[in-house]
Amino acid sequence: MLVSNNWKDYECIDAGKGEKLERWGNIILRRPDPWVLWKSSNDNVWNNYHAIYHRNDKGGGYWENKKEFSEFWTIKYKELTFKVSPTGFKHTGLFPEQAANWDFIIDKIKNSNRDIKVLNLFAYTGGATIAASYAGAKEVVHVDASQNMNEWAKENAKLSNLDKNTIRYICDDCLKFVEREKRRGNKYDAIIMDPPTYGRGPSKELWKFEEGLNNLIDSCIDILSDKPLFLLISSYTKGITPCILENVLTTSIKDKLTNGIVKTEELGLSITSSKMFLPCGVYGRWESSE
Ligand SMILES: C[S@@+](CC[C@H](N)C(=O)[O-])C[C@H]1O[C@@H](n2cnc3c(N)ncnc32)[C@H](O)[C@@H]1O
Repeated sequence: MLVSNNWKDYECIDAGKGEKLERWGNIILRRPDPWVLWKSSNDNVWNNYHAIYHRNDKGGGYWENKKEFSEFWTIKYKELTFKVSPTGFKHTGLFPEQAANWDFIIDKIKNSNRDIKVLNLFAYTGGATIAASYAGAKEVVHVDASQNMNEWAKENAKLSNLDKNTIRYICDDCLKFVEREKRRGNKYDAIIMDPPTYGRGPSKELWKFEEGLNNLIDSCIDILSDKPLFLLISSYTKGITPCILENVLTTSIKDKLTNGIVKTEELGLSITSSKMFLPCGVYGRWESSE
């Protein structure tokens, strides 16, 4: 498992009985996690939190505040700063387990010692966009169907003092955008994607992980430059294991990307009170051996 264990401003205090208790800076949030099938290891910590997310029976839910705190605040990961805010569908605007992927992105780009152009698909609030730009990417193209998410990503870039860097924020359907880039002959040295299980483009284009993934990966490989650095995929889709992602990547890449390796693992976080790990999806990547 690839564990994001370099956080100071984030901590998974405990996880048990279908919930997790997390510290985001000084704010403690309690929210459901369907994969937390085990018992909590410290019952005493569960009554001290600022807000709790309750599910309703229509698949949504709401936050109930128990203590006063501001609508949004910031947390740091190393030299990167992010805005955090409890939003609908129990999200906070950040996936802390992605920090290990940000470390990989930063390391690869910094050590390439050349101009790197990055494409970030399903880019959300821009965690990977910020990491790539911070590492010195010449240009980062950030694509998401939600204009609100693109605005949030812009705020994150500003908070990390990267607002003068070349980052293009594009509100589009990811597959449509990649196919347009192919027709225009635009190329990227590194491509990052975090495709959801199910999603909609801005014109209601339907995205379904199982149906769309192969096609999207093939199109992405077509727009990689002659000297590609990496292709990184994350997935939170139920049933997608590292082995599945490895096989998908290996068969798609076949003779097209040589001189590199495929690596896949679970992503995770440490749980402070139990010293166990919290599984949080999977990643799969091809990286050049340069
Ligand atoms: C769960 S988020 C990805 C998390 C993010 N990579 C991170 O770690 O911070 C999925 C994103 O995909 C976007 N999305 C869903 N369907 C899309 C589509 N067809 N085209 C573009 N973006 C889409 C959503 O707006 C959302 O921001």
